[in-house]
Amino acid sequence: MPRSPAIFHFLLLSLFAVFAFANATAVSTMIQQFKEAPQFYNSLDCPVIVDEDEEGEGSILCSDQAVHVAMTLDTAYIRGSMAAILSVLQHSSCPQNIAFHFVASATANASLLRSTISSSFPYLNFQVYPFDDSSVSRLISTSIRSALDCPLNYARSYLANLLPCCVRRVVYLDSDLVLVDDIAKLAATPLGDTSVLAAPEYCNANFTSYFTLTFWSNPSLSLTFANRKACYFNTGVMVIDLARWREGDYTTKIEEWMELQKRMRIYELGSLPPFLLVFAGNIVPVDHRWNQHGLGGDNFRGLCRDLHPGPVSLLHWSGKGKPWARLDANRPCPLDALWAPYDLLQTPFALDS
Ligand SMILES: *[C@@H]1O[C@H](CO)[C@@H](O)[C@H](O)[C@H]1NC(C)=O
Ligand SMILES: *[C@@H]1O[C@H](CO)[C@@H](O)[C@H](O)[C@H]1NC(C)=O
Repeated sequence: MPRSPAIFHFLLLSLFAVFAFANATAVSTMIQQFKEAPQFYNSLDCPVIVDEDEEGEGSILCSDQAVHVAMTLDTAYIRGSMAAILSVLQHSSCPQNIAFHFVASATANASLLRSTISSSFPYLNFQVYPFDDSSVSRLISTSIRSALDCPLNYARSYLANLLPCCVRRVVYLDSDLVLVDDIAKLAATPLGDTSVLAAPEYCNANFTSYFTLTFWSNPSLSLTFANRKACYFNTGVMVIDLARWREGDYTTKIEEWMELQKRMRIYELGSLPPFLLVFAGNIVPVDHRWNQHGLGGDNFRGLCRDLHPGPVSLLHWSGKGKPWARLDANRPCPLDALWAPYDLLQTPFALDS
């Protein structure tokens, strides 16, 4: 039955999302309404994936021919997530062959998140998985940046448990980034016969500084890096072989380091150091173009970063400053102009209660 455009637009406009933010000083309800993104079509040479049922084995969400993308979804970063999704689709030559796996807190309103996504991306292949943050909360020790203590930040360590077993390879993406290149190229990174993870490596970064003196002065701990050419990598963009991850039970290995961190401080940051402890020196390096990170700067008050030299396939606003917040505050950094075209926010306004 054809729907009249007028009714269609009315339905769209009434599908706005209500987000509640609570903090120590005030409780305000933010209403964020997002525009509908255009539909993106496969080019002719894309593999045809038969999508037989909505969720099971025959679904695109299970297909080996799909590019699987995992991201977290929450109210605080939803605007960033929407921009990231749009950027992935827009630069993909086979956008209809992308399957999105969103991890949301089990206490979040999943139906609200789901309807927010589908009203902006009516044709998106996606699933929302609830993440029991209470299980990871007990493992989190407070870090120097409290935003990093959010349990959902640790969801990337649990993808192998959260996503269905039929998903073998996944590209994990943070929510504060946009792609300007085809994600299929990143997803196709060869992992060799044994590697679990691929990511851009930064061997010039001072690796020592990610761990405390307590860690380095205790040989039974620091020897974990013996015989490994350990380099820093950013966990915001990773290609992960979930089957190998499950085989090696790397979630448990990460949790063991987190448990140790609760007893003795071996690092300062949040979810990153356990990844370094388990994987640094054993990853497949990816070209730096796939994670131009640090664009958030060190400081919300306007420390703007430049791009690293070389080509760019992915821009990542890691750090405290987020482009949407700086644009709203009318204090953007020059590179925030590269994020703005992907912003789907329609009419931001806040209701104080
Ligand atoms: C979740 O959001 C929907 C709107 O999509 C609302 O109707 C529902 O009451 C919310 N549920 C809870 C538990 O807040
Ligand atoms: C690396 O960091 C450590 C600890 O933060 C510091 O002691 C050391 O001097 C740094 N090395 C270099 C080469 O900057």
